[in-house]
Amino acid sequence: MSATYNIAIDGPAGAGKSTIARGLADRLGFIYVDTGAMYRAMGLYFHRQGIRMEDEDAVAGACGEIEISLRYRDGLQRVILNGEDVSELIRTEEVGRLASACSVYASVRQKLLSLQQDLAASANVIMDGRDIGTCVLPGAQTKIYLTASVEVRAGRRFRELMAKGKSSDLEEIKKEIRERDDRDMHREIAPLKQAEDAVLVDSSDLSAEQVMERIIAIAMERGLAQAPGVTCEG
Ligand code: DC
Repeated sequence: MSATYNIAIDGPAGAGKSTIARGLADRLGFIYVDTGAMYRAMGLYFHRQGIRMEDEDAVAGACGEIEISLRYRDGLQRVILNGEDVSELIRTEEVGRLASACSVYASVRQKLLSLQQDLAASANVIMDGRDIGTCVLPGAQTKIYLTASVEVRAGRRFRELMAKGKSSDLEEIKKEIRERDDRDMHREIAPLKQAEDAVLVDSSDLSAEQVMERIIAIAMERGLAQAPGVTCEG
């Protein structure tokens, strides 16, 4: 049995992965690893260097210049790109698109794979992304494929932006979500898909609390209570 307990949560953009993973990490005393943030930091770097995402050779060439690490402050993940904390800068729709565009390349994925695997080997983690259950942590004890309808995901994003005082167009958000799903699901390397041993959770009609309870129940069936360092009783 592996020394750490790992929960993998994969799913499309806007399914609520980060809210759920952060909440569960808090409750279980796990470390939350947001792998999308790592791809976002990579995308930001290429953009700043004026590298076009279509230029695979340039992207691959620049990978060696990038150092990404994670730090935790007050339990929250901070993403460090070549010594700079870019945690806030990477949270825009534009950087999300850049991340999706650069994540199709083997050079980019290879760069982040061992960092993600090392984190999971060193602590109990909840890791979210697109290929965690299928590629990064195939041995994760609990795998969840978290999804929701395009309408629900777009509505959530729309309200999030409104809450930040940013006006947006719901139809435009739906279109962007469909485009991102399409690219993430149909790329050649590590596409987004449900791992065979993952449990599908559709959050369209569930509250965050209900989703978390469901995942804890699934993890309990998969040995969570016996894992070292787990603080949750269920
Ligand atoms: O979850 P997010 O929106 O922060 O992710 C941004 C993009 O990064 C996503 O559209 C595809 C890519 N990504 C990936 O390819 N593999 C992961 N494990 C996580 C994210």
